[in-house]
Amino acid sequence: MTFQTITKSIKETKELGAKLGKLLKAGDAVLLDGELGAGKTTFTQGLASSLNIKGEVTSPTFVIAREHKSLDNKANLVHVDAYRLNTLAEISQLDLTSDLEESILVVEWGKGLVNDLVENPIKVKINHTDNEEERLIEIDASIDILEKLK
Ligand SMILES: Nc1ncnc2c1ncn2[C@@H]1O[C@H](COP(=O)(O)OP(=O)(O)O)[C@@H](O)[C@H]1O
Ligand SMILES: [Mg+2]
Repeated sequence: MTFQTITKSIKETKELGAKLGKLLKAGDAVLLDGELGAGKTTFTQGLASSLNIKGEVTSPTFVIAREHKSLDNKANLVHVDAYRLNTLAEISQLDLTSDLEESILVVEWGKGLVNDLVENPIKVKINHTDNEEERLIEIDASIDILEKLK
């Protein structure tokens, strides 16, 4: 199922990310699709604000993956910018210290969504609109999660 909404500001995009972040648990994966500047990192910052993790989420331009350790022994956040990866499967070859099954994985992908890394990832597609400040955000997830996002 898909949920669609328009966010009218950075703040609203972060709020939507935060809402989703609250619903996530260890082992969950979120694939963010959208062109450069769509708002994938912005959404991830909001998502991260719902997790008690170490460090600021930034645009991982020069690092492929950044790990944010949980400060309360819950799920770590693994934030990947897959810009320079060719397949999502390459994530499993990165030198991660976090166990993905015990982490929340967020991947900025932007090359069309694929399914080869985790089962049933939550898919978030962020699209530009005619308005500079607005984004059309489509979230594809279980009914359970979508009900709580509305
Ligand atoms: N509604 C909105 N939601 C998110 N970002 C927005 C919005 N409106 C404008 N922006 C701008 O779009 C850019 C998004 O950047 P970023 O999150 O780094 O994108 P990406 O990670 O997809 O490349 C920022 O410069 C931000 O100020
Ligand atoms: Mg980004």
